[in-house]
Amino acid sequence: MPAVVASHGDMPEHEGRFTIYVIVCVIIAAFGGLMFGYDIGISGGVTSMDDFLKKFFPVVYERKRHAHENNYCKYNSQSLQLFTSSLYLAALLASFAASRVSSKAGRKRTMQIASIFFLIGVILTAGGLNIEMIIIGRILLGCGVGFANQAVPLFLSELAPPKIRGAINIAFQLFVTIGILVANLINYWTSGIHSHGWRISLALAGVPALVLCVGSFVICETPTSLIERDEVEKGRQVLRKIRGVENVDDEFDSIVHACEMARQEKHPFRKLMKPASRPPLVIAILLQVFQQFTGINAIMFYAPVLFQTMGFRNDAALASAVITGVVNVVSTFFSVYAVDRVGRRILLLEACVQMFLTQSIIGVILLKDLKPTGDNLGRGEATFVVILVCLFVMGFAWSWGPLGWLIPSETFPLETRTAGFAFAVSSNMLFTFIIAQAFLSMLCNMQAGIFFFFAAWIIIMGSFTWFLLPETKGVPIDSMVDEVWKQHWFWSRFMGK
Ligand code: BGC
Repeated sequence: MPAVVASHGDMPEHEGRFTIYVIVCVIIAAFGGLMFGYDIGISGGVTSMDDFLKKFFPVVYERKRHAHENNYCKYNSQSLQLFTSSLYLAALLASFAASRVSSKAGRKRTMQIASIFFLIGVILTAGGLNIEMIIIGRILLGCGVGFANQAVPLFLSELAPPKIRGAINIAFQLFVTIGILVANLINYWTSGIHSHGWRISLALAGVPALVLCVGSFVICETPTSLIERDEVEKGRQVLRKIRGVENVDDEFDSIVHACEMARQEKHPFRKLMKPASRPPLVIAILLQVFQQFTGINAIMFYAPVLFQTMGFRNDAALASAVITGVVNVVSTFFSVYAVDRVGRRILLLEACVQMFLTQSIIGVILLKDLKPTGDNLGRGEATFVVILVCLFVMGFAWSWGPLGWLIPSETFPLETRTAGFAFAVSSNMLFTFIIAQAFLSMLCNMQAGIFFFFAAWIIIMGSFTWFLLPETKGVPIDSMVDEVWKQHWFWSRFMGK
């Protein structure tokens, strides 16, 4: 298991600057996040394009043309959902392999492999001639995402100067949201290009992968990964280069110390199963489960489909998806600003109220006015629903989105940090897969009830946060056990003496 040196909190002052070289490395690596985000955003638009449906999903296309038969079931098709979800299943499996590769061969190599998987996936999907090619392509894209998501956050945390590690961590999520937005914009543009617009959408996923692939020859390996793999002197040189100073002894010593401690723990996964690891492990997994059960990806994947369900024309539906994409990016900036000022709990709890209200009101409107076989929503009402969706996305973007990743990265003690984080990544992929695979069928069967289903989950996650999630703002990362877990009214019982 790789060692991650502190990722957030009050950091010891080490010498050094935030050098241009680090900025370049961070931007190149973050293209891995862009790859992930682009994929989230592109699928919904492509699966709502007629040319794409006609070619690969003629049955869905026919059903869509006779949509007046049932408003909520226009797109319900297991194989159409498999198009979207196969990627996440592949990513889930790949992330375990990637965790080994990133510890044995380094983060840089893992990112290179990610970009190559991704590029082959792009060729197969964009050049797809039949459904088999498309699905195999999606699986390869998933391997790319699995490898990238394992390596990029680690790379960023290890490269960032300790004092701004939290902000750099959220920058990953920022690139994810930018990727989603860019994908929405591209879908909006290509939906007017017949009959191959969808190919352009899928092909452009190659751009971030290409940047990552070429850029990975420019970036360095992280000092932590080098030292961990016994390239100690090289590790010291790289540290000097990225900090822009000669004297890096303090930071170097702390990395060596962290690596030694991590090395002593021969079985981090076994240690993770011990009671004392339970609090951060349960929280890391549940935050990801809850993050997905907010219903966010029903919107990120299927916004155009959802907006069409409410009666928007194809281009208006795609335009509305662009609007939600902008709200997502802008609100993530707010999180960067607020997370260390107001704290994690306030952001999460406030967002629960906001998301609960918006999901419930959308549910009521649809229940009242969008009957399975009746007319679509009126224009005013449909616009109001788009505004509600934006408010929902806003709440998510400054809370459960970034914090679902940040909190698991800062609550594990060093010796189980990367093993624990692997559980967070794979839980995310698993539940993203479940939502992607099930959402359209749920929409068809539960109709407006789906929004109450997500609203009910928001009550559960809000209660969990209120009672069981401790505040970790400003707590030094390596003092979590003493300052947080041992003091907590519930979790302290797992901590022993
Ligand atoms: C989630 C994704 C989601 C995205 C939306 C991420 O934190 O893991 O599933 O699509 O946020 O911005």
